[in-house]
Amino acid sequence: MSFARVASFKTAQAFREYVRGLGWEIPCDDAIGPTALCSLFQPVLGVQINGKPILNRLAVQPMEGWDGTTFGEVTEHVIRRWRRFGETGAKLIFGGEAMAVCPDGRANPRQLIINETTQDGLTNLIKQACESHRSRFGTGQEPIIGFQLTHSGRFCRPSDITRPQPKIAFRHPLTDSRVGITNDDPILSDSDVERLIEHYIRAARVARNAGADFVDIKHCHGYLLHEFLGALRRPGKFGGSFENRTRILREIVSGIRAEGNPIELAVRLSAFDTVPFKPNPQLSSPGAPGPGIPEDFSKLLPYNYGFGVNRFNPLEPDLNETIQFLELCVSLGIKLVNVSAGSPYYNPHVQRPAAYPPSDGYLPPEDPLVGVARQMQVVRQLKARCGSKLVLIGSGYSYLQEFLPVVAQRAVTEGWVDVVGVGRMALSYPGFMMDALNHQHVEAKLICRTFSDCTTAPRNGLISGCYPLDKHYSTSLDAGTLKRLKSRERKT
Ligand SMILES: Cc1cc2nc3c(=O)[nH]c(=O)nc-3n(C[C@H](O)[C@H](O)[C@H](O)COP(=O)(O)O)c2cc1C
Repeated sequence: MSFARVASFKTAQAFREYVRGLGWEIPCDDAIGPTALCSLFQPVLGVQINGKPILNRLAVQPMEGWDGTTFGEVTEHVIRRWRRFGETGAKLIFGGEAMAVCPDGRANPRQLIINETTQDGLTNLIKQACESHRSRFGTGQEPIIGFQLTHSGRFCRPSDITRPQPKIAFRHPLTDSRVGITNDDPILSDSDVERLIEHYIRAARVARNAGADFVDIKHCHGYLLHEFLGALRRPGKFGGSFENRTRILREIVSGIRAEGNPIELAVRLSAFDTVPFKPNPQLSSPGAPGPGIPEDFSKLLPYNYGFGVNRFNPLEPDLNETIQFLELCVSLGIKLVNVSAGSPYYNPHVQRPAAYPPSDGYLPPEDPLVGVARQMQVVRQLKARCGSKLVLIGSGYSYLQEFLPVVAQRAVTEGWVDVVGVGRMALSYPGFMMDALNHQHVEAKLICRTFSDCTTAPRNGLISGCYPLDKHYSTSLDAGTLKRLKSRERKT
């Protein structure tokens, strides 16, 4: 699959025409407007989070670094990342990074854990992000900051990055073998789930005590609560009907409120999904994966193994239950929903469109701009249905590179999305959006080109960060190890 480099488009007009030629639409202004008129500098009207208005339309997406201590505590690397989050100028730091509600729910042995022991370190992260925001932007209102609560479910690797220790909602015919599942042992019982709900309630208490404005009860990317949304074939009170598959969220929320915890609530949701992809074996050679193709699902129809997928053609989204889920969120008093898609493990081109695959991925099966446009279109549809009752944050924008600011501005102006979330770009170049929006010089050499090293590194047990562009990582010992790993892979 060949596709044009985003940096090769000299004008917004050329960009728009190219996207149209792909059969998609991405709204895009010709230029950033004067500050007073730029839609990204307008507050979100009619909503307050912990008594604070959302003063602009930019959010930092949650991004972990695989760099806590083995006890799940904050380290200097984590502090640096959060300080840089503060420097983005975004008035919403959505989740910061996934924090495990219990040690065995970690995706890697260095993921943060949220409990009473780690609480002071988490308070410090809020302090650091606010301080760096203040020192760059003055003493206006500080960003609204939440913590993302997670259990990694099928993708747990709590003690050794090379050893999956999955905990699952149901057996999955296409992904079980990827994490070594051969029997029913990893299936969580209903009483295991009840205990887990208590962990979420306790984590929300810790978040409140640590000073977070909200908690994100994470339902995305193939992790446990997302998997439960698709647990159509699971028997019992947490599977089957929509009501059962959303019981965990309802019980977490009622448990948080039952103990008088007033913390604000948010959800990050994979609003749609597709089947797992793999490198095309006919076009792959050792160390050089071919383009992604879907796993064969022909014998699995209707496809009862995912959320937000058309059960009769699981390559297509079906948003009916997604809309039902958003209505449930409204009824539970949840104000923020961060819309994501798919999973970085089994269909990364859907979740984080990139020009270059991570080491365990595949070459893009489509122009990555299609992946961006798909996520934007879904948010647009969800906003048309539920937009007046929820603040929707959009994801997957970093691949837009030079065009990110003008696309974000147009998307907000046209009401496709309320708040634009920025992920990988915030790792390589935290000041990018504010430089562009304030008509300052933009450092082209810091723009994220989606090399995927931030994903490849942790998949190989290293800390995550922007190795190509951020000196903190490019000059580290891990950078040498990563280089050797990649060249070994190419030679194999
Ligand atoms: C290194 C890395 C770590 C991430 N960690 C998380 C996480 O902890 N929680 C989460 O919901 N998403 C996580 N994501 C996904 C991002 O939040 C975001 O959805 C994705 O990168 C696409 O947005 P972008 O195009 O702006 O990068 C991570 C992404 C990357 C690259």
